[in-house]
Amino acid sequence: MYIKKLDLINFRNYEDLSIDFDEKVNLIVGENAQGKTNLIEAVYLSSMGRSFRTSRDNEMIRFGEKTAVVRVQAEKEYINTKVDITIDRHSKKFFRKDGSPVRKMSELMKNIIIVVFSPEDLSIVKEEPELRRKFIDRELSQIKPVYFNDLSSHRKALLQRNAYLKEDNIDKDMLAVWDNELVKYGAEIMRLRKSFVEKISESAGRIYSSITNGAESMRIEYDPYLEYSDDKAAQREIIASALEKTLETDLKMRTTTAGPHKDDIKFFVNDINARKYGSQGQQRTCALALKLADLDFIKEETGEEGILILDDVMSELDPTRREYLIRALSENQVFITSTEIDEGLLKAYPDAKIITVKKGTVVL
Ligand SMILES: Nc1ncnc2c1ncn2[C@@H]1O[C@H](COP(=O)(O)OP(=O)(O)OP(=O)(O)O)[C@@H](O)[C@H]1O
Ligand SMILES: [Mg+2]
Repeated sequence: MYIKKLDLINFRNYEDLSIDFDEKVNLIVGENAQGKTNLIEAVYLSSMGRSFRTSRDNEMIRFGEKTAVVRVQAEKEYINTKVDITIDRHSKKFFRKDGSPVRKMSELMKNIIIVVFSPEDLSIVKEEPELRRKFIDRELSQIKPVYFNDLSSHRKALLQRNAYLKEDNIDKDMLAVWDNELVKYGAEIMRLRKSFVEKISESAGRIYSSITNGAESMRIEYDPYLEYSDDKAAQREIIASALEKTLETDLKMRTTTAGPHKDDIKFFVNDINARKYGSQGQQRTCALALKLADLDFIKEETGEEGILILDDVMSELDPTRREYLIRALSENQVFITSTEIDEGLLKAYPDAKIITVKKGTVVL
């Protein structure tokens, strides 16, 4: 799968841009604040329906304008696709996929599949659990629309339950309505997370050993907040009884204290917890292996090669990891932003397309 063409109108600092991409390596170069990240933000938007750096869509509309338009054409193994997005200051963001309006975000997911790797991701191992949950949720949502739907339903029930817990007079029967939803969707979310982490652990482990020339081993484990069970009914029971047990605490804290919204994943290097004891280098290698394993997972699940975005990440890696990454990319379309052209990269991919960005225009 690869993005063939991108058109922008009034998107960030781009007034009007139309650009063709290379099927493999695209190097987006330019000084700081010229529009490199803006360009790939637009590409990403066509995949997930949202930005990877803001949740406020209006920020993407060019200053002083009312509407921004993004058009993406992608070529895929089996069927090509076009995605059109209109962001309006005064109405809801609007999507078309192959000419037809998209009503639910899950209709858009799995169409164009993109993995982003940015400097913040390098600290995914040592950061707070929220960042790791976001990783799982984002990646799994793109591959499995059913996960995205379960997650949305779970989130909605959780928000409503938490809002209700802040009220003065609580009717426990009311809580039961949301508890049922949390049990039902929570169990599904846990099942899919478990199997995702198992799959990704296997390839990440392989990649990690290869980066370290077999000197170190790595694995990833699902670290659920509640006990995990392979049995669906048992899993539901576990969540239901946890909600019962924590009811008093929830009433006191005025929020839902237990459930998959507190899940985490753990990284082990040579069987030692990398978050607690890993060196910075080991933690970064874990992050790199995780992202590359994600691409393996995408390939396995969809038969398509995912698209990789490397935003400012090359200069953050040491030569060994950088070279490994460069070699690993041969099958995927990749967008790499940097202030300077990486010579090693150009040597490995002499046909790479170099896109020079200056003040919201592409200089040819
Ligand atoms: N809505 C907007 N309208 C117009 N310009 C915008 C808008 N949002 C951001 N910009 C401008 O875009 C520029 C930043 O672009 P971008 O983040 O793509 O830079 P970059 O080339 O990735 O830089 P760096 O190398 O520092 O990461 C800034 O000059 C900013 O003022
Ligand atoms: Mg940038």
